[in-house]
Amino acid sequence: MKILLLGSGGREHALAWKMAQSKNLSRLFIAPGNAGTATLGENIPVKVDDFEGIGRVALDKKIDMVVVGPEDPLVKGITDYFSSEPNLKHIPVIGPTAKGALLEGSKEFAKEFMIRHKIPTAKHFSVTDNNLKNGLEYLSCMQPPFVLKADGLAAGKGVLILDSLAKAREELKAMINGKFGQASSKVVIEEFLKGIELSVFIITDGESYLILPEAKDYKRIGEGDTGLNTGGMGCVSPVPFADKDFLKKVEERIIKPTVEGLKKDNIEYKGFIFFGLMNYNGDPFVVEYNVRMGDPEAEVVLPRLKTDLVNIFKAVAEKNLLQIKVDITPQSCATVMLVSGGYPEAYEKNKEITGFENIDDSLLFHAGSAIKDGSVITSGGRVMAISSMGNNFQEALKKSYKNAEFVTFDKKHYRKDIGFDL
Ligand code: AMP
Ligand code: GLY
Repeated sequence: MKILLLGSGGREHALAWKMAQSKNLSRLFIAPGNAGTATLGENIPVKVDDFEGIGRVALDKKIDMVVVGPEDPLVKGITDYFSSEPNLKHIPVIGPTAKGALLEGSKEFAKEFMIRHKIPTAKHFSVTDNNLKNGLEYLSCMQPPFVLKADGLAAGKGVLILDSLAKAREELKAMINGKFGQASSKVVIEEFLKGIELSVFIITDGESYLILPEAKDYKRIGEGDTGLNTGGMGCVSPVPFADKDFLKKVEERIIKPTVEGLKKDNIEYKGFIFFGLMNYNGDPFVVEYNVRMGDPEAEVVLPRLKTDLVNIFKAVAEKNLLQIKVDITPQSCATVMLVSGGYPEAYEKNKEITGFENIDDSLLFHAGSAIKDGSVITSGGRVMAISSMGNNFQEALKKSYKNAEFVTFDKKHYRKDIGFDL
């Protein structure tokens, strides 16, 4: 099978790495890819939201399947584009239609979906310019902290959690007035959920689903979960507190009603669902849906998956997923993200990365890297994820931290406390 993978992060390097192990993969193309994916297939310089460009590549290279890494092209309708173009519609796309992608693309849509299908989540109130006064009153009746979410995609920056009512009122007005552009012309105010977060992943063909390993991500830049939010600084899988009982509740109360709900709502969905969850006193609540794998979650989930990923994707495309049994190693996997100094605020790029050859017993997934004049250079905030396996997450982390020392680039930074709260 010839597969075209869309995206350029650590998640895509991990997806490419896993697919490359399949006997059923004949060639892999990645658009646009990074220095890591270039070692597993052919990178093609086409942007993930250039649908016509992607369509041309798919025809030129005689692609049999497209796998979508990030949310942006899904929310913009890449799956619908392929199914509506007469010369592309024979090529299956792994990733939901635009309607399905609204689970991530609109917080309000996701909330209404959860209410409709009785899926546990925080109470909410939606605000636009038309009912801003009601929104401000709603805030006054709540207990702090106050959770404000831009309805649309805001590059992971659209959620504010505030302790003071005055600040929350001020931010609500600023959001409605365009703080996050069009994405915050509607704002969802949410009740704050106390607890400990984790993520659960499935892949579905719209009928049945496979549950993939759960993971816990460390989103803040600073040790002890302090400072600004990032795309994710490290991750572990499995999550020790997610025991059998808890995961059973997740399946019965959240996964099943979500897949059933999509069917009832006539939403075609073939792809990953990422459930961002809060464990509150042993009960799971949905904090968010994502319509893709996480990054860096993919870098710990996929190394634990023993089943052939290309076979899984093929079964999803053929609506035949019930035939596949998922096999997961009981070993732990942990990843540590090396980032450019300054990230998630301003940072410098084009720093040469060296020392890969010294990596021992870890997997190195490139995120923000590129090749220039034969050298590997930094090209993003999150530069690479170092994933390792072990009998427990502490053992896995030890290997990642040892190898994190070997990879060098100017102003390299990483969190030294991944897993500190477990
Ligand atoms: P989201 O983009 O919806 O996942 O929100 C980003 C982060 O904000 C989450 O990962 C949580 O850490 C936090 N968060 C979002 N919603 C809530 C909530 N209702 N209660 C507590 N924390 C939340
Ligand atoms: N690491 C969080 C995400 O991929 O959304």
